[in-house]
Order: sequence, then C-alpha cells, then structure tokens
Amino acid sequence: MGSSVEATAPSHYQERAHFKECIIYQVYPASFCDANGDGMGDVQGVISKLDYLKDLGVDVIWLSPVYKSPFIDNGYDISDYHEIDQRFGTLADVDQLIAEMHKRDMKLVMDLVVNHCSDQHEWFVESRKSKDNPYRDFFWWRPAKYSDSGERLPPNNWREEFSSGSAWEWDELSQEYYLHLYCKEQPDLNWETPAVRQAIYTDIMKWWLDRGCDGFRMDVINLISKVPSLPDAPIKNPDEKFQESYKYTANGPRIHEFLQEMNREVLSKYPGLITVGETPFTHHDFDVLVPYVLPENKELQTIFQFEQQEVDGYPQLVPKDYKLSEFKEITARWQIEMQNRGGWNSIYLENHDVARSISRFGNDSTPTYRTLTAKLLSALQCTLSGTLYVYQGEEIAMANLPKDWPIEEYVDIASQVYYAEELALRKSKTGEENPDMSDIMSALQRKSRDHARNPMQWDDGLDAGFSPKNKERWVGKPWMRVHDDYKKWNVAKQIGDPESVLSFWKKMIAFRKAHLACTYGYFTLLSPSSEEVFAYIKEYKNERLLVLLNFTKESVSYTLPEQTGEVGDMTDLIGNYTSGPPEHIENRVVKLRPYEALVIAGGK
Ligand code: GLC
Repeated sequence: MGSSVEATAPSHYQERAHFKECIIYQVYPASFCDANGDGMGDVQGVISKLDYLKDLGVDVIWLSPVYKSPFIDNGYDISDYHEIDQRFGTLADVDQLIAEMHKRDMKLVMDLVVNHCSDQHEWFVESRKSKDNPYRDFFWWRPAKYSDSGERLPPNNWREEFSSGSAWEWDELSQEYYLHLYCKEQPDLNWETPAVRQAIYTDIMKWWLDRGCDGFRMDVINLISKVPSLPDAPIKNPDEKFQESYKYTANGPRIHEFLQEMNREVLSKYPGLITVGETPFTHHDFDVLVPYVLPENKELQTIFQFEQQEVDGYPQLVPKDYKLSEFKEITARWQIEMQNRGGWNSIYLENHDVARSISRFGNDSTPTYRTLTAKLLSALQCTLSGTLYVYQGEEIAMANLPKDWPIEEYVDIASQVYYAEELALRKSKTGEENPDMSDIMSALQRKSRDHARNPMQWDDGLDAGFSPKNKERWVGKPWMRVHDDYKKWNVAKQIGDPESVLSFWKKMIAFRKAHLACTYGYFTLLSPSSEEVFAYIKEYKNERLLVLLNFTKESVSYTLPEQTGEVGDMTDLIGNYTSGPPEHIENRVVKLRPYEALVIAGGK
C-alpha cells in the first residue's frame, strides 16, 4: 500500500488536526443575506443562516471584510479596523455572530487586510499631512524623479494591479509620491517600520482575537515585504509604460521574518487558531511557497496558491483555453509536493475573486450537465488532501452571470477599469465612437470577479430571498443584480431534494469527514495524459480510495491501470449518478457515464 509515498512523506503530514479537517465556508457579506432590507447583505443575515451552514457540515466561516470602508474595493480598503461598516451592521452584531457560532461549535475567521489600508484610515490621513508626521513612515513615501525635460515621474516603473497605471500616486500637499500596489485609495503599509507591525499585531490582531474571533485569512500576505530599494521592475511588456512589480514585491526578503514574528507575538498565544495566507503572483515555485506552511517554520497553517486558478488564464482577464491534463498536472503537483515536503494544502475552486467553478471547469450549458458537473467538482474537492473551502453559492451550483448582461452590471473595480481603459484605447486608435468590444466582454463573461459577487439565491421569491420579503422593510434593490436563473437554482428548491447539488455537497462533506483518506491520504495520479478522466488513488492507514472523474459529456470506458491493484473487492462508496447501479467493472474496464464521478473503495 502506497509504500513509495509513505517512505518519502514526513510523518507529521498525516497527523490529525482540527485546522486540517474543518470545512471552511466563505461568506462574502455584501451578497450573502440582507436581513434589514437595504439591499446589502449584513451580519444579522449571516446569523440567520448559521443553522443552514451547520447542517451542510460547515465548521468554520471565513467572513470577507465587514470593517468600516469607503468600499472602493468592496471592503478590502479598510478605514477603521475596529468598526463595522454601517452597511453590514454593528460591532454588537459581530459579537453576537461570534457567540452564536461558538454556541454551535463553529469558528469565525476574519479577513485580515494589512498589506494596505484605505486612504481614509487615520494612519494615512495623518501620514500625508507632512513629511515629519509621526505616521509618515507607516507608508511608502518617495520623492519624484524628473526626466531630462523636467517632467515629474514616479519613483519607479511599477504598475498597480487594477489598471495599467502607475503604482505611485502624487500627493500635492506633501509633495511626494506614495505606493499603492492596488488602487490609489489603497496605500501600502510599510512593514519595515516596527511601529506598523506592532500596531497590526496589537491593535488589530489581538484586539479581534480577544473579542473571540478564531483566526485570520490574510489578504495578499506575501506582498508585505518589499525590496526596500524599490528597484525598477523588469520590462516584460515593452508596449506598457508600467510593469508588474512582483519580482520585488511578492515574497520579499523579510517575509518569513515578519510572519515568524507575527506568529511568535500573536498567533502562538491563541491556541486553536486557523490561519491561511493568500499568496498570489507566484508561479510554479514550491521552494518559495512551501516555507510559509512548514510547521517547523512557525508561520501559517495554509496558503491559497494561485496556480490552479491561473490554468485558464493569467492575468485573470485574459482567458486562455486549457486541457484537462494541465488541470490534473497542477492539482497533482500540489498534492504531491505538499505531502513530500510536509506542508499543507488548502483546497478551493471558488472565492470572491474568481468566476464560478461550474462555468470554468464544469459545464453549465444544460441543467443536467450543470447538476452533474457541480457534483463532479464537489467529489473532486472533497477527496483532495488539504483544508477544504467552499464558497457561498458553490453548494447550489451558482453559475456565471448571464451572457446578455451589459457592462453596466459588472460593478467590480477591476472589470470597470479594464473595460474603460480598453475602450479609450480603441476609440483613440480607430477614431470610432463605438469600437468593437466583444472580445473584452467575452473575457469578462468568462473570468470577471463579478460572477462570484451577485446575491446568493435562497428561494424563488422577490430578489431570490436575498432581501426580506416584507415589502414595508424593503427599501433598496440588491446592490448587485440577482441572477436571472434564481427561480430554478436556489437553496429552497434543493434543500429537500435528495438528488440536488446541495444534498450532494452535504453527503460529500459527511463522506470526507468519515473517510480520512480524503483529507490526509497520500495522492497518486493515474493516467496523467488522459484528456477525459481525472483518476487518482488516496491512501491513509488501512483505507484506499480510488477516485474516477469523467470530465467529458461522453461515456468513457476507462481501463484501470496496474497501480489500482486487485479489482475483485472494489465497491462503490459514493457517486454523482442516482439512476441505477454503475455497470462497471469488467476486466478492469470501468464504464463511466457522461460527467460521472465515482469514489470506490480501492483494491489491495
Ligand atoms: C485580495 C482580495 C481581493 C482584493 C485584493 C486587494 O486579492 O481577495 O478581493 O481586491 O486582495 O485587497
């Protein structure tokens, strides 16, 4: 049984821990549930759905930011870390949420956004007042450069993430530039300044942990250490004035020192916490990413890697086609490298920054395919090693926004800026008032962040049950348009139906909890070059699972390779078809129906 893997994997990989086994559900508060009828989801709305989540098998909620914010980047621009934005409720509501969750033996993970804050945060308001303000060093201020002709230029050639413009903004008042890797309303905090780190550890992290929060999802945490000399970035795109800065801003020279300090001073003092760091802009590099999660390094428990998310295009809004073999290769490599090196994965296909998984990796073109592929992706994620994340709406197979929605319905800053820049460019190039933008719309239809951000579909009533039905209380339209398909695809419709996607997720989560080979099993990929079937073995102690996933809409006869061992004792444990027993296995050939997912108790 899996002897080659067992020989190489560090033994602690399969040691049991709550943070490895818990099921984490991400709530994007603006769109989850609106209890007060103002058109925006809120904390009371989350409280009202706790029993639903508990019933699904959820142990932990990761709550995207609810702090006070001008909302330029939907709450990822925080102006006060101690206050709850009035859109979402009050601090008393969050206290109540924590209490209600703890009562149900659930944990709350807050979003920690500390690479940057809002330009309305008092630290920044102070900082820009003058060069000798005590908060000046909380941010990255630099003098202008000047060209030979005397033109004022930013300190280097870095571009910001949401547009092709500079990552530096000129401040008239104090006559210097400040750095913002995201939009100009999100100035980067300068972690080189010890007082910044202390303020984050004490005034933000401990403050929340002392209030009862159980951990943090750390936003773009691998950007907090920059190469302090801030050199010009390599020119990858000669047509652009400003260039990707990540060589000097991602996984910088002091990143591990900072995280180890944070662990020593804060995280280690609160047993039972859950920590996950978001680590974008890093590709194919285990030597860089695994150290974040090695237990002996005492930094974080898990990270969100982006390689899988980028299989269908990077930068995000430039989509590309991919083959199943590429998707499998990335998945397998992360499974195997983490097990060999003794790190730990997080398993996710969706979050608030990416389009819906059935529209990207499944098939949403007919209700049957949509149901089958949503279950297939659930079976995949629920049988991979790591900590499992489910994003709101994923459990009912919510799909990308309808293709006929116009650009106005795409409200995310990244979508709007991308479209506006392209439009301006094309107008000036062609001289046309309405240049062809169909390729840009098609990119947004595939990959925009908006697909994850429209209201959760609770039932087939007014606004999909997102806002309260009592019309007197209903004062606002949902902040984002409800998907046209909500009458057919909603929680109420699926909850009592044993064949629904929601019921399958619930079954699959229970299966994962009952079969530890899902969470901890050593992973072996079978048939890597098959463009039809994603097949693998998972092994944990005496348990051996064989997972077969037909990613095509055709029936496929799959021949079990030698590694699967004897087939005589194999039995189905769970699958996404309900009609009749599977016709397999004959002479080592398994007949898989269109998009069939099968988890089988493996041979010896
Ligand atoms: C992270 C967040 C994303 C946000 C960005 C800047 O990637 O997940 O939503 O826009 O950081 O804070």
